Amino acid sequence: MRKIETFFIRTYGCQMNELDSEVMRGLLEKRNLTFTSDEEKADLIIFNTCAIRDLAERKVLGKIGQLSRKETDRPIIGITGCMANAKKESLFHKLPYVDFIIGTNNIHQLNTALDEVLEGKTPIYIDPTFTQELDYLSAKRTHAISAYVSIIRGCNNHCTYCVVPYTRGPEVSRTPEEIVKECRQLGEQGYKEITLLGQNVNSYGKDQPQWNTLFPDLLDQLDQLPGIERIRFMTSHPVDISRNLMEAIRDLSSVCEFVHFPLQAGSNRILKKMHRKYTIEEYEEKVAMLRSLVPNVSIGTDIIVGFPTETEEEFEETAAALKRIRFSTAFIFAYSKRKNTPAARWNDDIPQKTKEQRLHNLLDIQQNVTQEYLQMLIGTTVELLVESTSKDTTLLKGRTRQWQQVLFPGTTDKIGTIQQVQIHSFSNQTCIGEVIASTARQTSLPIR
Ligand code: SAH
Ligand code: SF4
Ligand code: F3S
Repeated sequence: MRKIETFFIRTYGCQMNELDSEVMRGLLEKRNLTFTSDEEKADLIIFNTCAIRDLAERKVLGKIGQLSRKETDRPIIGITGCMANAKKESLFHKLPYVDFIIGTNNIHQLNTALDEVLEGKTPIYIDPTFTQELDYLSAKRTHAISAYVSIIRGCNNHCTYCVVPYTRGPEVSRTPEEIVKECRQLGEQGYKEITLLGQNVNSYGKDQPQWNTLFPDLLDQLDQLPGIERIRFMTSHPVDISRNLMEAIRDLSSVCEFVHFPLQAGSNRILKKMHRKYTIEEYEEKVAMLRSLVPNVSIGTDIIVGFPTETEEEFEETAAALKRIRFSTAFIFAYSKRKNTPAARWNDDIPQKTKEQRLHNLLDIQQNVTQEYLQMLIGTTVELLVESTSKDTTLLKGRTRQWQQVLFPGTTDKIGTIQQVQIHSFSNQTCIGEVIASTARQTSLPIR
């Protein structure tokens, strides 16, 4: 009989996967298993996978392949997350030493699956829709100050390139009562910041009209819960970002002035082919409205280059949009064809080399925008929530309300507090500063 005493979870992909891993860790610790950070020694290894791009999948397959080659003392291997939904039982064929597979909507069945593995079975649980409230209250959180809170799972948007609607299923909102209860508990436990998670947080509550609680209403219910200094949220689909939401960001004191608001492309033909449901003009109108209602807001985005049939001129429209809009952060990706998505019907006709050139071109543009932003911050005083010590220095690490990371010298008793820090320099994407007298007020800088 195989024994399990220790476990390790390797997490790929987005914050939703990170939170799911924290929930799984809570479930396994309830079963009296011990988390080990030494993967080599674990009796059970769970790969919580991502399927968003080919590279994400190849990383996981390579890693599990390596483990499978071990002749003796092979751990129990489980695959969870988006690749489980995308590839299903074919994973057993590709990777014969995998013991169980659990889809994104079946995490609550983890302990049942493990019992079955111990009986010699190879269970697979994959439901198309999320139906079961998870035990978020027992989740074993990774960070001490900031916690993720899921408010809506799944996605109904069906952007033509994207695998998420097929791996996470349709949108299902959690009840406002459950969310408030969880956030209240986090505040009592000493967390200072919550990040509300959903593929599209602005769809919150639309699947349950009888609740009469849309996303801005939920923010209102969560504002100023005891202990919670800051509320963040991601991601926002441009179509659903409403004036009400912008006003909530402006008016609710704990809601931070940062909106991650993926543009994806600057050409209207490509946006249409991506099924993004807005034009570049409509997107820029929303940006302008957001900036006029919330003057100190900073805006982040995602961009895909090399979408099927994207011409050089259309790519240039995206480059021009980046220069015009001036995002504080931009994640830029080369298009990756995903099986069973609508775009998979089209020829992936942009050569890899062209995709890479376009990617680097946009990274250069964005780097200039970011440098100018960081330059503007020098000499100003910003309000930081101190999160931890920084990884490779003795400095403390915090973020501004606008999500800019700042390092500064200080003692660890400052972790979890709000500090006023004057910025004196920056290195790469990170600002460096010094604490000033605690009476100082925040200087908020828009990025324009
Ligand atoms: N729900 C979020 C995004 C989730 S995926 C939203 O819609 O805003 C994160 C990012 O990955 C996307 O915004 C997109 O830029 C990128 N992405 C998704 N599918 C991709 C694909 N097939 N190839 C390349 N990038 C992709
Ligand atoms: Fe994917 Fe589009 Fe849904 Fe985002 S909104 S998860 S890009 S389908
Ligand atoms: Fe990846 Fe699934 Fe998140 S595909 S990005 S882990 S929703």
